[in-house]
Amino acid sequence: MTERTKIGFLDSGAGGITVLARAVKKLPSADFLYYADTDRVPYGTKTPEEVVRYTSEAVRFLEDEGAQAVVVACNTATSMAIRPLRAAFPFPIVGMEPAVKPAALGHPEGRILVCATPLTISGEKLHTLIDRYFWGPVSPVLVPLPDLVTLAESERFDEESFRGVIRSAGLEGERFAAVVLGCTHFVYYRELFRDAFPGADVIDGNEGTVNRLADLICVREVPGSGSVRFFESGRIPADEDRYRRFLERAMKL
Ligand code: DGL
Repeated sequence: MTERTKIGFLDSGAGGITVLARAVKKLPSADFLYYADTDRVPYGTKTPEEVVRYTSEAVRFLEDEGAQAVVVACNTATSMAIRPLRAAFPFPIVGMEPAVKPAALGHPEGRILVCATPLTISGEKLHTLIDRYFWGPVSPVLVPLPDLVTLAESERFDEESFRGVIRSAGLEGERFAAVVLGCTHFVYYRELFRDAFPGADVIDGNEGTVNRLADLICVREVPGSGSVRFFESGRIPADEDRYRRFLERAMKL
């Protein structure tokens, strides 16, 4: 790519900022546009048709803002909409994949937890992935944690609130060899997952997605000014500081 490279990111809200932060570290001179669909978060409890419509609107907006590639930094949106998005837009669109493969290959005998939104858990994409990597008698434990999305959106990152979600989901005291964080909002709680499930390998798909993005745009040193601009459901955010706080937190993960 020549000239300034603009890379668009989208998520239902602030979860995808955990992926954006990795991309900022890997491609520090690119220009990033981040679209949070904050008016309509969460996606994980919407219908597949709604998620396809919302994400198409978001990608159209990013295209109009000059994005030359788009990262769907949301497992739910990837699961429901990646195919129609790729069919509708002429530029590269990178999605998320729950880290089922490294969990299965790294812990062939172990008990594995996959947590995500209700829509990702019920979606065909996750089940196809599980069928590919779990062919023995053991299958992963699948648990939807929609309340963790709400918690992250309200910037509640304390242990007590997190433990409340884990308890309500019936996961307290359970033991796992690996925990797959199948929702980008959950990545903010990575350390708390480690504390709640001692010894478990806590894995997310963020690095894989950013590596795919970097491979796709071919060069590591993309031209640009290293900027990040935030948008909220198609407009300039009323409170931009809120997104900067998420980015600051995500940069430390
Ligand atoms: N961050 C999203 C994901 O990775 C979606 C959360 C939601 O809106 O329900 O699945």
